[in-house]
This record gives sequence, structure tokens and C-alpha cells, in this order.
Amino acid sequence: MNPLKKHEFLEKNSVVLLIAIIVVVLIGGIVEIIPLFRAETVIERVEGVRPYTPLELAGYNIYLREGCYNCHSQQIRPLRDEVARYGHYSLAAESMYDHPFQWGSKRTGPDLARVGKKYSDEWHVAHMMDPRSVVPESIMPSYGFLMKKGAKLHDLDDHLKALRMVGVPYTDEMIANAEKDAIRQATGEAVTDISGLTARYGEAVAARDFDGQPKLISEMDALIAYLQVLGTMVDFEATKQIEAEMNAKEAQK
Ligand code: HEC
Repeated sequence: MNPLKKHEFLEKNSVVLLIAIIVVVLIGGIVEIIPLFRAETVIERVEGVRPYTPLELAGYNIYLREGCYNCHSQQIRPLRDEVARYGHYSLAAESMYDHPFQWGSKRTGPDLARVGKKYSDEWHVAHMMDPRSVVPESIMPSYGFLMKKGAKLHDLDDHLKALRMVGVPYTDEMIANAEKDAIRQATGEAVTDISGLTARYGEAVAARDFDGQPKLISEMDALIAYLQVLGTMVDFEATKQIEAEMNAKEAQK
């Protein structure tokens, strides 16, 4: 029989066509979704990604509360223009400890996935206080009030516990030290002993007075600590090495 004839049967019987559409869409959906249940198969192996420190997590929470994601994405797509503007495209592993993830879908402002270390802390403070003082044409609102409000640190252990329940590898020690670690990070090496903090989260943790107000650990401290770590965890030179090794192994097979 002419295959088009079979199709004619589908086209002339709307209920059968509907059922056929549902079956096809279901198969497509299953093929796309099932592999994602085994997250380890879709998140590439990279060195350096660690859970946020308590202070960075406090900053992340402020980022959510203030709705920064309404104007900023955190997802650099693997397209030439994006990579040229923002840097290496985002890897799944880089947001695997974000609950919820901050990929976003709107870019009124630029992507922030690699904003860490791009500017000084002073720049961030000036920009948050009055965006137009550093970028005259900016339409970003000012967030000067963050300087005056003390960051909420006493319940960070609960935040860590909640994240552990969804798979972020916080240890008992990290949870027990959450508030103290936040204070240590916002006070900095010059004033306090940060060896415990770096033992738990790595030598690369930036510990200093981020907002320039040594007497207060403000929400600005937390937010800037968070912004300064974005996109800086993965060492892309090391990743290239791993990729090369994996490719070499593949080639041997
Ligand atoms: C109404 C939209 C809007 C909101 C809400 C918003 N921003 Fe922005 N943001 C912008 C725009 C537009 C720019 C680009 C101009 C500039 O640098 O000010 C920008 C720039 C930035 C930059 C500099 C990025 C770069 O690479 O130059 C940072 C950092 C930033 N925003 C952080 C935040 C944070 C943190 C929040 C939440 C507390 C936030 N923004 C909320 C619109 C917004």
C-alpha cells in the first residue's frame, strides 16, 4: 500500500491522529527526560566546584530575595558572541549546588555567570549604591539599603542543612560552624583566623571586609562575597587537561 494512504487514514480520523500525536510526543519526551534522572551522566566532571560558603550563601539568598534574576541571567550559552563577551560557556557542574538554579531567562542587564573577580569590591559597592555613578546610562535600581542592614547569619546552619537534604555535600562540621565561618569570611585574614574556613571550603575562598565597613557585616558584604565567586570556581586550564585525557582514552579504544 502507498504509505501516503496510511497517513491519509490518520489525517481523516482526528481522534486517531490525536492519539498518534500523543504517542509520538511521549516517546520524544521520554528520550529527552529519562537520561536526566541520572544527573551524573549529564554533569561533566570538573575540578574546583564546591558548595557556597555560608556567607556566599547568605548573598545568594539576598540575590533571590531582591529578584536580581528578573534582569540578570547566569548562563553563558555556547555561542561565539556570548563566549567572546562573557568568557567560557557555563557548565552544568557550575550550577549543580544552586537550589534553585539562577540560569534566568531575561537579560535586561548583562549575564552574571562570570562576574566574579571582574570588578573590585569598591566598584561593586559604588555600583550597588548608585549604578549611575559608575555606568552613567545604567537603568539598574540602586540597592544602597543593603549597606545598612546586618546580614542574617544566625540561621545559616539551617540553610546548609536544608541544602544537604537536596544533595549539596555540606558536612556536619560545616553546619556546626556556619555562622562563625560567615563572620570569619566577612572579617578577613588580617583580623581573624580563617584557617578553619579555608580547611572546609578551600584555599581559594576570598575572606575580607567586602563592603568597607569593618564594624558591620552587612547584606552588602554577603552579596558581594557571592558575586565575587560567580564563575571563578572552575579552573578552565585544568578542565582542558581532563578533556584532553578523556579524548586520548576515547581514541585508544
Ligand atoms: C531592572 C533590572 C535590574 C535589576 C532588578 C538588577 N539589575 Fe543589575 N544590571 C542591570 C543593568 C541594565 C545593568 C548594566 C548597566 C550597569 O552596569 O549598571 C546591570 C549591571 C549589573 C552588574 C555589572 C555586570 C557587568 O558585568 O558589568 C552587576 C554585578 C549587577 N548588575 C548585579 C545586580 C544584582 C546583584 C542585582 C540584585 C540585587 C541586580 N543587579 C538587579 C539591571 C538590573
